[in-house]
Amino acid sequence: MTSASRLPTVVLVSGSGTNLQAILDHAQRGSLGITVTGVVSDRPGVMALERAKRAGIPALTVDHAQSGGSTAFQRQLGAVLAELKPELIVLAGFMRILNTELVSSWAGRMLNVHPSLLPKYPGLHTYRRALEAGEKVHGSTVHFVIPELDAGPGILQYRVNIRPAESEQSLRARVQQGEYLIFPRAIAWFAAGRLALKDGSTWLDGERLNAPVVVEEAQPV
Ligand code: GAR
Repeated sequence: MTSASRLPTVVLVSGSGTNLQAILDHAQRGSLGITVTGVVSDRPGVMALERAKRAGIPALTVDHAQSGGSTAFQRQLGAVLAELKPELIVLAGFMRILNTELVSSWAGRMLNVHPSLLPKYPGLHTYRRALEAGEKVHGSTVHFVIPELDAGPGILQYRVNIRPAESEQSLRARVQQGEYLIFPRAIAWFAAGRLALKDGSTWLDGERLNAPVVVEEAQPV
């Protein structure tokens, strides 16, 4: 596949960018069918921007703190995205809620990874909440973005069994290892034309998914 035939993709970030790194590593090996044409952060100076620069990818900031408020921020971000003209937008640890207008203009072309087994635990502090609730399993979900927060149709879920005396930190580390698998996989499906958002559902290979495809953490032998 030539780089010209790969799907132009923009990644939105807010922090350390370990998911971005996993995506860049796969993309560089040519296994995703995408070219990352820009990385956009809502905060300056984050590690994710460094990772983009190291990979030779335009690293842009739309600084939320300097934007003049949420509506202005969304307008500025929308203008940057319109300029970059991606075919796919990937939210990789992007911690802002996008407004309906922005999400609607990229409907079916925006993917997010969220650290819970949605519909459980939308929003923040998912690991702490799952542990406090005494959950036996936790994980992460890749889903299409719709205007309602963390409510879009699921694509892939990574599940881990919570261990006795599991800490928030260890649970996060285990779940994130799974994100590095499922997010690139969903992106590759999308780039190959296997994945679509239609009639409010996820479709994979022409079939409506009733539930996300589940990947279980490999059990130690
Ligand atoms: C990821 O683990 C992702 O699940 C979470 O932020 C982390 C970012 O890590 N996303 C959300 O909470 C979105 N609601 P990273 O910057 O190292 O990829």
